[in-house]
Amino acid sequence: MKLLLVAGARPNFMKIAPIVRALKAQSDPQITQTCPQRSRLRGGRVAQIEYKLVHTGQHYDYEMSQAFFDDLEIPRPDFFLGAGSGSHAEQTAKIMVNLEKVCEEHRPDLVVVVGNVNSTLACSIVAKKMGIKVAHVEAGLRSFDLSMPEEINRIVTDSISDYLFVTEKSGVANLKKEGKPEARIFFDGNVMIDNLLYNLDRVKANHVQFRRRELKENIGKYLFMTLHRPSNVNNKETLERIAGVLGGIAGEAPIIFPVHPRTSKMLDQFGIELSKNIYQLPPLGFLESLYLWKHAALVITDSGGLQEETTALGIPCLTLRENTERPVTVVEGTNKLVKIEELAKEVAEVLAGRGKRGKVPELWDGRAAERIVAVIEHLAQRSQGEYGQAQSNLAHS
Ligand code: UD1
Repeated sequence: MKLLLVAGARPNFMKIAPIVRALKAQSDPQITQTCPQRSRLRGGRVAQIEYKLVHTGQHYDYEMSQAFFDDLEIPRPDFFLGAGSGSHAEQTAKIMVNLEKVCEEHRPDLVVVVGNVNSTLACSIVAKKMGIKVAHVEAGLRSFDLSMPEEINRIVTDSISDYLFVTEKSGVANLKKEGKPEARIFFDGNVMIDNLLYNLDRVKANHVQFRRRELKENIGKYLFMTLHRPSNVNNKETLERIAGVLGGIAGEAPIIFPVHPRTSKMLDQFGIELSKNIYQLPPLGFLESLYLWKHAALVITDSGGLQEETTALGIPCLTLRENTERPVTVVEGTNKLVKIEELAKEVAEVLAGRGKRGKVPELWDGRAAERIVAVIEHLAQRSQGEYGQAQSNLAHS
């Protein structure tokens, strides 16, 4: 089977790294012996998966892209589509045109897309229209908020994907409600958490450039924040309100804030200055960022990935959004959705030791990518009618 694995934006890179590792292991007979999912599914036969990596170029700055490839040990992409910035239509269109050429030349049997970014949408549409099977990793998540471009990307991608790999039970329920055949849905766990657990052993203080002495001295006491959603940063009044509330909070505990390019642009454009106790950093590599948030008293974010990662490590997380497509992080984990006007009070609660405690969701055990590759391997060697067997084997693993 010829497989194309696609990544385009920062949150995609964390998701493909474990899949690449599992695909590499697929061709290593020694690893096969130690993976129960795979030996059970293989039934003694090895289906060869030949894979190539596509980078769409949606994110292109060193800090947003190459730093992640280096940190996460992702090999050099085989194809680079050079999409770059632009309006959603421009970006999506460029990726589509360029991926079509790659598919014409390479003729894959399966295109694997991850997450919810414009690259995910663009590549799933191109593959499907060329008669190539599509697998979506992180399928089924829904915020039910169509003002988020990611929600549109998720819905469209899921609606045309042949194989739906799901991180949490809410995703399975959403897909069933939307009428997706059960046999195409695979509850496999969370590749983002595979990546996190793999890197926990690797992350060391020397990955961090403590750009300021105060940060080093405040390990365990500072807050870590990321903010980039259009709903929080694209409107001057909203961003001013957030900056004002954060200024008050930073008077109590310093805030480390790696700033996303969009947010940085908006702060400049609106002429908003942040309090001096908010330490603005450039976008960080994965390991530096992990070290800093893992040692934070609390994380404030509007990102999808950090809601999950903080839940996996039991770090309190306040999410500045009205909804989340990852409800398990709220129901079972350490995540809480907060409005801007509630933020200061909620931060004070956590700092007083009354933060939310949580548990790690089912199958967030670091082995999701292995399960995904096991299913793909199974699909590669059996006919379509036998997805059900792959599922029942997985369910018992
Ligand atoms: C994208 C994803 C979002 C994800 C986020 C993480 C979509 C619809 N959104 O949003 O789900 O959470 O990435 O980062 O795909 N820019 C740079 N350098 C870069 C990349 C972007 O300066 O390497 C600038 C762009 O020019 C643009 C802004 O940052 O002005 C936004 O980039 P874009 O990729 O359009 O969307 P994100 O907001 O990053």
